[in-house]
Amino acid sequence: MQGSIEKRGAVAIAWFDNPPVNAISHEVRQGLMDAINVAVNDDEIKALIIACRGRTFMAGADITEFGSSPKPPGLPEVVMAMSESPILKVAAIFGTTLGGGFETALACDYRIAQAGSKVGLPEVKLGILAGAHGTQRLPRVANVDFALKVMTSGEPVLVEAAQEAGAVDRVTAGDLIEDAVNYAEELIAAAAPRRPIQDMTIDKAKYDEEYFARFRESIARKTRGLNAPERSIRCVEAAVNLPFAESVLVEREMSLESHRDPQAKALQHVFFAERQANKVPGLARDAALRSIDSVAVIGAGTMGGGIAMNFANVGIPVKILEMNDEALEKGLGVIKKNYDATARKGRLSEAEVEKRMALLTGTTDYSELADADLVIEAVFENMDVKKEVFKTLSNTVRPETILASNTSYLNIDELASVVEKPERMLGMHFFSPANVMRLLEIVRAEKTSPDVLATILRLAKAINKVGAVAGVCHGFIGNRMLSGYASQANRLLLEGAAPHQLDQVLYDFGMPMGVIAMADLAGLDIGYRMRQALDETQYDVESAYLYDNLVEMGRLGQKTGAGVYDYDPGDRTPKPSSITKKLLAEAAEKFNIKQREISEEEIIERCFFSLFNVGCNILHEGMAYRASDIDTVYINGYGFPAWRGGPMHWAEHAVGLEKILDRIREFADIYGDKYWQPSPLLEQLVADGGSLRDIQNS
Ligand code: 3HC
Ligand code: NAI
Repeated sequence: MQGSIEKRGAVAIAWFDNPPVNAISHEVRQGLMDAINVAVNDDEIKALIIACRGRTFMAGADITEFGSSPKPPGLPEVVMAMSESPILKVAAIFGTTLGGGFETALACDYRIAQAGSKVGLPEVKLGILAGAHGTQRLPRVANVDFALKVMTSGEPVLVEAAQEAGAVDRVTAGDLIEDAVNYAEELIAAAAPRRPIQDMTIDKAKYDEEYFARFRESIARKTRGLNAPERSIRCVEAAVNLPFAESVLVEREMSLESHRDPQAKALQHVFFAERQANKVPGLARDAALRSIDSVAVIGAGTMGGGIAMNFANVGIPVKILEMNDEALEKGLGVIKKNYDATARKGRLSEAEVEKRMALLTGTTDYSELADADLVIEAVFENMDVKKEVFKTLSNTVRPETILASNTSYLNIDELASVVEKPERMLGMHFFSPANVMRLLEIVRAEKTSPDVLATILRLAKAINKVGAVAGVCHGFIGNRMLSGYASQANRLLLEGAAPHQLDQVLYDFGMPMGVIAMADLAGLDIGYRMRQALDETQYDVESAYLYDNLVEMGRLGQKTGAGVYDYDPGDRTPKPSSITKKLLAEAAEKFNIKQREISEEEIIERCFFSLFNVGCNILHEGMAYRASDIDTVYINGYGFPAWRGGPMHWAEHAVGLEKILDRIREFADIYGDKYWQPSPLLEQLVADGGSLRDIQNS
């Protein structure tokens, strides 16, 4: 039963046990109410400890209950009843005490926490705010700086920092419950007063309008497009300026408004999508998985180095194999430089840099990889070179060692054909910079066994990545979709959109940067080299006119100080280029394309409907298990705004499948089937009135 009472003399412990994270479901809310009632009505009880079993104190409201009206009592009601009840209450915090969990702790009079555990108000990540008085209690008990930071970033903080800010009273490295009982006994003995936070006030003079304006400015870049942070700030302003009874009404209004905001639905979709992406259909949750205690990486270039760092960062030793000592030294040198740069910013201690570097060892000899549980290949993007590597690996490492390729496009089935026991082979597609980008696209080859897939999904989580599974197709999920999107962007340039106009529309939509600026950043020579190896039927010659000419002029992008855009020396700001304008006009004339004014709406429709249409094909072909996996890929690998829920969620919920299909058909009439063929899945969903949510591939 939730809130069952254990008595230890004058101290009672109300126990909660709602696996896996003690989310505050209806039963837990009722349990809190009941426990308070029992304690208040029992004369022997002088203090009540709120405690949890399992891996954490309450990690928040139960998100699965969102969307339907909560069964009473609601959490705001519960925390109010708690904080007003005459019994002395102590929260015993451990694990990740988040959202409603932290708010429950803030409704207690005192808080004791396990050293190294975390507290936070991550509601903003779900598009909402800490609406069970968190926005009102935290700035009153801690300080306004701390509260604003915690609420608007949504990032959990160590209890040690929370203690320094005043939100936690005591931190213990010992047995939490024993120490909580001792603490409660001390408080009883000292006749310590109750401390309802709603009675505390804030020194208004310190936090004037200018203070809040500065704070808003300081987070503007990071919170671009998001509505929830601003609502939290308004709540804190109310906490500063109004008595609790009034400011709590502002929180209520903001909270209701945030729950109605489509951003909340989108962000909650993303929360569950990322967790769903981690599951392999048909594989039991408790299936035995392999352990990965040591890793090898082949190739210490741009990707290999970053990939290796991910493992060293979490204490897993990595052996890096290169062609020769020189390449090895160079690669290890770059890794050291990266760590040193992080250390200089104060985000890593010297000792930690040494520890991580000690986990990274180099070799040029395959026999030294015999112990590896997993080998990740990151050599040149060339089928023959990669096949050679896998043949050698197949002959040298243990037969159960998992083999992975970081290829961007190559066929993993073909690579697996040279390997003994191909069921251990798969793609692990990291994104550049591999030690930073959160996405790990896991490519399931025809013979990859489910337990290998699940092992790598679990490993992704262990190295702090978001894993999502793709099937074998050109570009897998992410790069395949990118090609549809980039292709429309290029067509729009030919038809008269200026690169900076197009990029601005994409940026304003919420993308981190426009696709043309991204091409300049990545280097125009990559595509140029790829096209050299193809014949003219295999790429869009009309779009290539601009890029081929730019490359041949030596304008390779940012790295040469000029590409599609011009750049001033030492400045990465893209500037419109008259050369690009001239080349685009030439191309339009040469290929008989009429240039015209292009609207913002058309840019969005053509780029993102195309992206979505490719996504539908990926799903239709079974190259993704679910539409939400595609959202996960595109948000974490390509910066699609999470508050729009990913390209698939956005298309279905913000635009509508029928409207998109109509527009795609119109585009097909104008531009032809070559660019616009409605996905059969989209046609089928519209015909049947179905939803992307119903598609589950195996
Ligand atoms: N409600 C419902 N289910 C939840 C949940 C929640 N608040 N938090 C986690 N879960 C579920 C997950 O969906 C997952 O389910 P699954 O196994 O079926 O996929 C399971 O618990 C385990 O979660 P994780 O895989 O994320 O486990 P981790 O150990 O990696 O992380 C965690 C644990 C840090 C607690 C992480 O789950 C998390 O950040 N949870 C969300 C916390 C949060 O946002 N709290 C605020 C909720 S809103 C709120 O409180 C409103 C209030 O202000 C009124
Ligand atoms: P890179 O050229 O920076 O590094 C490749 C490294 O592999 C070089 O250091 C080279 O010496 C080494 N190498 C080549 N053949 C080898 C062999 N037979 N044995 C051992 N080492 C060998 O290339 P990069 O960018 O790191 O790409 C590697 C792979 O990752 C490619 O398949 C690429 O498509 C993929 N990838 C690249 C991304 C990027 O943004 N650079 C993003 C995602 C994937």
